Amino acid sequence: MRVLISGFGTVGQGFAEVMILRKDFFIERYGKEISIVCVMDSSTYVSNESGLSPNELLERKKTTGKVGTETYQDSLKVMDSVDYDLLIEVSPTDIKTGGVGLKNIRHALESGKDVITVNKGPLALKFCELVSLAKKNNCKFRFEGSVGGAMPIINLCRESLVGENISSMRGILNGTCNFILSKMDNGQSFEQALKEAQQMGYAETDPTNDIEGYDAACKVVILANSVFRKSVTFSDVNITGISSVTSEAIALAASHNMVIRLIGEVSDDKLEVAPRLIPKGHPLSITGTLNAAQVVTDLAGPITVSGRGAGRIETASAILSDLVSIMDDRKERGGKCRNQ
Ligand code: HSE
Repeated sequence: MRVLISGFGTVGQGFAEVMILRKDFFIERYGKEISIVCVMDSSTYVSNESGLSPNELLERKKTTGKVGTETYQDSLKVMDSVDYDLLIEVSPTDIKTGGVGLKNIRHALESGKDVITVNKGPLALKFCELVSLAKKNNCKFRFEGSVGGAMPIINLCRESLVGENISSMRGILNGTCNFILSKMDNGQSFEQALKEAQQMGYAETDPTNDIEGYDAACKVVILANSVFRKSVTFSDVNITGISSVTSEAIALAASHNMVIRLIGEVSDDKLEVAPRLIPKGHPLSITGTLNAAQVVTDLAGPITVSGRGAGRIETASAILSDLVSIMDDRKERGGKCRNQ
């Protein structure tokens, strides 16, 4: 499998680390390791058709701040110059335009390449277009890490729960907001808690996307389209963030044995992100940066998952799961795989 990585920030570097950690796993399962043939960051790239060393990539990024040895203007020209099978798109999220991630994903799918992404912007804005493009070009398109980081939710619903009728899903889909609300439970102010979340690196580059609920809304869109087979986009979600949640409201909730949590909800008639009262002890009353999701199914009943919603290695673990699925599919079919 020849992989092109677009984006070498936190998640891209995490993926390179995971490739080092799982080298033996790939050799044992498929007889060879993953070959990273090209990596781009925002201004540089490096490519080698015989494969790049993840250790060298990480070292160069650490020492020079750049992954590449060459600069580029047009990412599509770089992609066209490389012989690859799979694009891993992990460039920064742009939820206004989809950014370079959208451009790269479209181009890879149009060129018949499989794609794995954790980039929420392209998915929240152009989900249906990208899935249709993947189908038309007979490509695999997977995005487990875009919702809940390490917490398995999309593949859980689409694969393990495939025979269920899922009527609704409610979840804590933004770790930064959960961290802030948990700190406020302990008496900290909103401003103090946000500052701490930024220092710890949980918040998005622009924390407005977290606290106003936009990041959670992107995830609601991805779940609605991928699990509930809706055709919706970011503008279809009713969004209320946590910036107006006061310490008084938190204290009042506590006096009724409740906490306030930012909940994303998808059901037949609802697409919403809003602060909600949750009884203490309920699976969605979790604290800290954890994400959680509760899925209501007809046969199995309610199923709840929880896990780390962000982080370098954690998000890369979701990419690993998508990668293994694509490779298993290819192995079964003895070559190029069919789309979902
Ligand atoms: N800023 C996001 C969060 C990162 O706090 O959950 C993961 O999407």
